[in-house]
Amino acid sequence: MKMLKDKISQEGIVLSETVLKVDSFLNHQMDPVLMMEMGKEFARRFADQNITKVLTIESSGIAPALTTALALQVPLVFARKQKSLTLTEDLIVEKVHSFTKQTTNDVTVSRKYLSPDDHVLVIDDFLAVGEASFGLARIAEQVGATVAGIGIVIEKSFQPGRGNLVEAGYRVESLARIKSLHNGQVQFVEE
Ligand code: G4P
Repeated sequence: MKMLKDKISQEGIVLSETVLKVDSFLNHQMDPVLMMEMGKEFARRFADQNITKVLTIESSGIAPALTTALALQVPLVFARKQKSLTLTEDLIVEKVHSFTKQTTNDVTVSRKYLSPDDHVLVIDDFLAVGEASFGLARIAEQVGATVAGIGIVIEKSFQPGRGNLVEAGYRVESLARIKSLHNGQVQFVEE
């Protein structure tokens, strides 16, 4: 998606060979115009999948997931990483390990908001190893819902996430695919 790639080229900061900082439009300050366009683009790519629900994980997944849900006219559910005061009953729980942060979270969603009839579109901001996406897919599958696809804002294609998810049978659509972050430069996969 050209608008996103331009934004990454203009404002992304390469922190290391593996980490890209995009705090100015995705992970801290957010660009609502770009978010709306990304939501429309995800909706376009998954238009044939009869999506009934969008599923993401707090916090940075919520904005692109919300605009996608709006474009598809379906509800958004976000999984929580922290225990909620009010969300205590009938929880679906999955452990999600982050290789980037070396942390493990119990990720939860209430059973009330997912059903076996749902066709779920998983949305996340970054794809590295794929653990967050796998965790969300497992949550949907625990209730017997169908995972119709996985939409990623920024895929680090030099890491194994896409390969792992595709090998497991999921359809992955990424709006920007990064080939490398060598020498402080962002290089995109040619598409
Ligand atoms: P994975 O899901 O593909 O396995 O990724 P991983 O666990 O390694 O990533 C953990 C967290 O780090 C996620 O955010 C993910 O979005 C973020 N992340 C991974 N690589 C990058 C990167 O190159 N740049 C940036 N900016 N973030 C990256 P999180 O902990 O869920 O944070 P948030 O959603 O609360 O902001």
